[in-house]
Amino acid sequence: MNGRSSQRPARTPRPAPAPIAGLATRTAALRLIDAVLRRGDPLDQAAPPLLRAIERGDDRALALAIAQETLRWLTDCDRLIDSAMRQPLPADAKARSVLRLMLVQVMRLHLPAHAVIATGLPLLSGGPRRLAHGVFSAILNGGTGLPAAPTLPLAVHDRWSVAWPDRLNAIAAGLAEPPPLDLTLADRAATADWAERLGGISLMPGHVRCPRGQAVESLPGFAEGAWWVQDLAAALPARLIGAPPRAGARALDLCAAPGGKTLQLAAAGWQVTALDKSARRLERLEENLARTGLAAQTVTADALNWTPDHGFDAILIDAPCSATGTARRHPDVLHRLPAIDDLTALQAALVARAARWLNPGGVMVYAVCSLEPAEGEDQARLVSTPPAPITAAELPAGLAPTAEGWLRSDPGHLAEAGGVDGFFAARWRADPAEAPAP
Ligand SMILES: C[S@@+](CC[C@H](N)C(=O)[O-])C[C@H]1O[C@@H](n2cnc3c(N)ncnc32)[C@H](O)[C@@H]1O
Repeated sequence: MNGRSSQRPARTPRPAPAPIAGLATRTAALRLIDAVLRRGDPLDQAAPPLLRAIERGDDRALALAIAQETLRWLTDCDRLIDSAMRQPLPADAKARSVLRLMLVQVMRLHLPAHAVIATGLPLLSGGPRRLAHGVFSAILNGGTGLPAAPTLPLAVHDRWSVAWPDRLNAIAAGLAEPPPLDLTLADRAATADWAERLGGISLMPGHVRCPRGQAVESLPGFAEGAWWVQDLAAALPARLIGAPPRAGARALDLCAAPGGKTLQLAAAGWQVTALDKSARRLERLEENLARTGLAAQTVTADALNWTPDHGFDAILIDAPCSATGTARRHPDVLHRLPAIDDLTALQAALVARAARWLNPGGVMVYAVCSLEPAEGEDQARLVSTPPAPITAAELPAGLAPTAEGWLRSDPGHLAEAGGVDGFFAARWRADPAEAPAP
């Protein structure tokens, strides 16, 4: 035994520190941003598992809003951070991510700076908290805020300044705010009535626009299925199919889930086959059918391996795409662009296959919620079915068809009314005298 023994009294264990209110929310927001930027996950997919542990619904909503606004204003937050530092932080430094989400909480979500500091700096426990505190304070004291429109990520800016040189500023301005809540009505004749009951405005028959941030399930008409949530531009492709030419006319919704366009076709009186390769997404489509009381036959299949046993009078191809047109509601899409070449090959294959299933005189619409011409205009140019140009009368006031008779919307359109998603759509009509391919 060692002759020297410690005479120090035994320490009473320290009580565990009380949890910091709101820290779990910010931790979740930080992980969401990481999932998008580091792993390339869609925010929609990353959110459910990362938010599950947060008890309160408004805390989950706050975590998601912090992540969305951080991704929306990422380039501008980085500029502010870099302007306040002599030695720039690495792009993937945790301190940079924490500073980004602290800045949007003050500058976009209007939370008090002291609360943001109290919940932000603990995320850097054991790390450069003092540095982050100093940079954050310097930015706030410097008085420079975020610009009126978000700066696009460099790769997106470079692509769109070539594709849409005249629309680039309007598109960026349209991305500054999350979108309003658009609803499509099952009964177009009741538009004025529902606009009044919901306290919204209507931009075309069958459409009502409400302020964002409402609990959709508690709005009048949700439980009875009088409407479904669908951006105004997203509702245009199914409208372009028109009404069925006769009772029992068949429509194929080729990439159908979660089903906004299937519901429109069914409500218009088509006998709809709704096909999608994702069984999980088709479950949501079936829930939507059940809630609205509308009918469609659902098919879980890869459209490239499926063959129908009859032709269709209408085919809607709402193809999988980069979804860059939805950046207002999904700001993550601009930071994790998928391989466009794979998507364009799939889109072309879907259109070529579907065109063979069109009955004589049948109508086909191809649509993508993308701002990439490779997924829209370039695909439409490959189709040999006779075109059926879209007319101005089929679109809401403020949107005009292109010279080719196509629809091309972007987030800068209808800005004074709250904007729309970016969409491309083109329409063709099979020769009435020609038999469908075997
Ligand atoms: C843009 S989303 C469709 C949105 C839907 N039309 C709506 O309005 O709710 C594209 C869909 O295509 C489906 N999809 C992707 N590849 C497919 C394929 N090879 N065959 C069938 N569906 C496919 C995806 O599962 C996804 O649900």
